Amino acid sequence: MPVVALIGAQWGDEGKGHLIDLLASKARLVIRYGGGNNAGHTVVNERGTFKLHLVPCGIFDPATVNVIGPGVVIDPEVLLSEIEELERQGVSTAKLFVSERAHVIMPYHVMLDQLQEQERGEGKIGTTGRGIGPAYADKMSRTGIRIADLLHEETLLTRLRIVLEEKNRLLTKLYGAKPISLHDTYLQFLEFGHKLANHIADTHPIVHRALEKDLPVLLEGAQGALLDIDHGTYPYVTSSPPGAAGACQGSGIGPTQLSTVIGAFKAYTTRVGEGPFPTEVDGPEADALRQMGTPWAEVGTTTGRMRRVGWFDAVMARYAVQVNGIDTLAITKFDVLDSLPTIKICVGYQLNDTQLEYPPATVAVLEQAEPIYEEMPGWMTPTTGVRRFQDLPEAAQAYLARICQLVGARLGLVTVGPHRDQVIPVADVF
Ligand code: GDP
Ligand code: IMO
Ligand code: MG
Repeated sequence: MPVVALIGAQWGDEGKGHLIDLLASKARLVIRYGGGNNAGHTVVNERGTFKLHLVPCGIFDPATVNVIGPGVVIDPEVLLSEIEELERQGVSTAKLFVSERAHVIMPYHVMLDQLQEQERGEGKIGTTGRGIGPAYADKMSRTGIRIADLLHEETLLTRLRIVLEEKNRLLTKLYGAKPISLHDTYLQFLEFGHKLANHIADTHPIVHRALEKDLPVLLEGAQGALLDIDHGTYPYVTSSPPGAAGACQGSGIGPTQLSTVIGAFKAYTTRVGEGPFPTEVDGPEADALRQMGTPWAEVGTTTGRMRRVGWFDAVMARYAVQVNGIDTLAITKFDVLDSLPTIKICVGYQLNDTQLEYPPATVAVLEQAEPIYEEMPGWMTPTTGVRRFQDLPEAAQAYLARICQLVGARLGLVTVGPHRDQVIPVADVF
């Protein structure tokens, strides 16, 4: 039963888009299971370069069915413009299905996300400002609007009337912002529903028919394990569970059905937004990792913010592996290390006179932890053209082997450039 979950295993932007695009040809169904348009997934293939926020990256394979699952929060305007843009570029979205159960990001979610961040001042999280936190909060407090509601005039009006009463009080009385019009919002979201109608479906039968037939299914992660609401660097996290458990919950597939959990890791580490980052570097080391001026420079795909960069953190990585049952590693952006004479790996944290094996639970303690580094020689040779593991320089093989040993999972594949073809397959994942 080949059901493969591919999850981000650091703080996001691990190159999941690239990996999903290349693995999609082996799958018959790709399901994006969580997050919203806080995600930005880059795909570079023979059709061009694409930055997708909601549409699964399996969309480029004409034979693959793509589902946006119940765990995703959807800004319909963003989804519609993404669909339109793909179609304009000749990519068919005929096999894209959006779950009726997915929640809708409403204008008040976006406003509240931004107003809350302003209120936090110095203590801001550095959210993407896309309304993600408030949308998931409403889902949990059972005041959310779901995609199915956009197709039912009466339900939409009734639910919106109740919600807006509360939201407008909050917006005007607490934040001094303008209220949102019930009439205009109702008409606008009804219109979104009409425009999306061909894609909206109960995705449960689609998913379960594929499982019954034993078809290969690929679950597309967004964000990363260290941004997980339960297991991440709280409160500097997103508001969903981006890991393997979230993959099951957000797509409607039971945990016993998963055959493999692939953890996507950059060969180093990046983070966008605020929050602890023990192996963060600055100065020339950061410049080398950030690769400014290249198409794969460490600049946020969604917000354009400069990403923070640092060395591979095996303490965090091992934790991500353990929390998510990751059995296979996809190491990405390996080529970025090609010109470095020395590469560091964090193998432990020093906290006063104690050496920690696991990341501490609280930010205050984590911020005091000093990374313990091991240094390995670089390979100082381009790897961008390498396609077989045995053709990698010895030092490169040694670095990958050390990562696998430290985190406790096998190597599945390595990417050595952003293009679909720039991959070194190591183990079969389907
Ligand atoms: P995602 O959110 O996990 O899909 O990752 P992003 O698309 O936000 O960021 C990854 C960036 O790295 C994008 O610019 C990709 O085109 C690029 N990329 C992906 N894999 C590789 C790789 O192996 N090498 C290089 N140099 N760039 C890559
Ligand atoms: P992909 O799928 C990197 C980060 C934000 C912020 C925190 C909370 O492209 O890997 P949110 O808007 O979710 O409330 O922001 O999470 N964040 C991401 N960082 N990649 C992402 O997605 C992210 N999605 C959210 O920068 O620190
Ligand atoms: Mg991204």
